[in-house]
Amino acid sequence: MIRLDGVGQVFDGREGQVTALEKIDLHVRGGEFVTLIGRSGCGKSTLLRLIAGLLPPTSGSVQVADEPVTGPRRDVSFMFQRPALLPWRSVLSNVMLPVEIDKGGDRSKAAYRDRAHQLLELVGLQGFERRLPHELSGGMQQRVSLCRSLIRDPQVMLMDEPFSALDALTRTELSEELQRIKMELATTIVFVTHSIEEAVVLADRVVVLTPRPGRMREVVDIDIPRPRSLAQNAYVTEVATISARLHGLLSEKDSEDRR
Ligand SMILES: Nc1ncnc2c1ncn2[C@@H]1O[C@H](COP(=O)(O)OP(=O)(O)O)[C@@H](O)[C@H]1O
Ligand SMILES: [Mg+2]
Repeated sequence: MIRLDGVGQVFDGREGQVTALEKIDLHVRGGEFVTLIGRSGCGKSTLLRLIAGLLPPTSGSVQVADEPVTGPRRDVSFMFQRPALLPWRSVLSNVMLPVEIDKGGDRSKAAYRDRAHQLLELVGLQGFERRLPHELSGGMQQRVSLCRSLIRDPQVMLMDEPFSALDALTRTELSEELQRIKMELATTIVFVTHSIEEAVVLADRVVVLTPRPGRMREVVDIDIPRPRSLAQNAYVTEVATISARLHGLLSEKDSEDRR
């Protein structure tokens, strides 16, 4: 579903060039859940922006659904750390926003509206459709944002630390909800997080990036049965073992040392 081959990204910064990513070869299968971890500044957001078509790569190629990425696609959605809801629009009309911006959707407005209600119910927000964002908690706002990114049934969801501004309890709940949604829909997900445990709990595979420039340090398969939880569960030992290994990988010295 997603293919990055030999991808590199160099930015022209004020203090000269910054190599953000180097030699990224990443293939994500349809329906797979991949999480990305790495130090701050190692290029995680840049990687998502490349897949989203918000940025052309300096080198290498990026493909989604067997097509070169040349710009944003309707079937790829992006979710950020902050919910970024329009404050004057109701919950329902925030969820409907992508459909209104893009008139060329493949369903009628009424069908999308039904879908919006369904999604809001899926995340426990039925009854809040007419509320305004400021009337909701941070966790509820992020649930609205999740519904908005699902409204057009994306093939690919790119999620950039979507739960990191939330308290621990809400975060646990949302990661369970996301897994439930993921089990219902066939969406392919690339999810950036700075929480190693979250990366392990959510992923089929965890990609560990090196510090700047971001290279692929290691890819770890997570074979723990689902559903998994960040709270106590049957697989807490397995999650802890893999997390400890990933902590080790991330705290190793710079990639330079190994070249
Ligand atoms: N538009 C840009 N112009 C210049 N430098 C950038 C730009 N975007 C990102 N960078 C730099 O690229 C590196 C990777 O950034 P980013 O992908 O945001 O890292 P992460 O999300 O892993 O924290 C950082 O050093 C950042 O300063
Ligand atoms: Mg980032």
